[in-house]
Amino acid sequence: MRQKLEELRTNALKEIDEVSDLSQLEALRVRILGRKGSLTEILRGLGQIPLEERRVLGQMANELKGVLQEAMDSKKKALEASGKASAKEMALDVTLPGRRPPKGHPHPVMQVAEEIVEIFAELGFQVASGPDVELEYYNFDSLNTPKDHPARDLHDTFFVKPGVVLRTQTSPVQMRVMEKTPPPVAIVAPGRVYRVDADATHSPMFYQIEGLLVDKGVSFADLKGTLIYFLRRFFGKGTKVRFRPHYFPFTEPSAEVDVLWKTDKGEKWLEILGCGMVHPEVFKYAKYDYEKYTGYAFGMGVDRIAMARYSINSIHYLYENDLRFLEQF
Ligand code: DAH
Repeated sequence: MRQKLEELRTNALKEIDEVSDLSQLEALRVRILGRKGSLTEILRGLGQIPLEERRVLGQMANELKGVLQEAMDSKKKALEASGKASAKEMALDVTLPGRRPPKGHPHPVMQVAEEIVEIFAELGFQVASGPDVELEYYNFDSLNTPKDHPARDLHDTFFVKPGVVLRTQTSPVQMRVMEKTPPPVAIVAPGRVYRVDADATHSPMFYQIEGLLVDKGVSFADLKGTLIYFLRRFFGKGTKVRFRPHYFPFTEPSAEVDVLWKTDKGEKWLEILGCGMVHPEVFKYAKYDYEKYTGYAFGMGVDRIAMARYSINSIHYLYENDLRFLEQF
């Protein structure tokens, strides 16, 4: 019996030492100290042993129980501290409902741009694009804006290096398209533009959509008809629209277009686009026959239109990327 206890002590301590996770430790505890455990059996068997031996052996067995208990407790603590939880504890609970990743949606400016492009696409316009970092030639020169022309001062331009700018307008896409495509053309070109400008209604980067249509016999009436159709589709049937004479170097005649916008503070005219008949000088740069073809062009501020549609009073809300704002759309 004494020998049995000694053996148990050596083996059990070794096993406790070798255990590498909590479930193994628990299995070992049950095997030794559990109701049918090896030490428990020994303790139970003490009854059959002669009295004088029983006392000594009983004491030994109880002491061993305490030693093993203690060894297991400290092993348990060590395992818990080292983070080696049992495989069972670590396992996935496949019955738990999944955690959904937050769902995003297009930015309000993108939603508006998409809607505008779609209306023109329905009318037969194709979508074109050009680079944000643009040659001064396309941004100004080829759009009939000579170096010393005051119109260059209308835009405060970010220069990348001499001859290269961040485009101040989407109008250079007109020239890039005409260079590659013989008439007739009908395109819209959405994109980012940049100006040295920042206040409540100006951001140094904003969005425009350019439009260009060239064919035989295109008139200002076509321009008006198309834009009025578009504006009423976008802002609602009864929307009041106003064409004001204006100046742009690449169109002649030129106009700005306002819509009468209803706010909580009453009605006000909101300027949302510039337009006009393509200037013959621009056609010369494009190598289009300006005796044979005429065309109209327009450029609209997408941010402006988004602000009007959603009654947003500062353009900066659109570019701060504050989710509390963006989630409302
Ligand atoms: N590019 C002009 C601007 O940014 C807007 C514009 C006006 C575009 C007249 C046009 C146009 O195509 O014909 O202010």
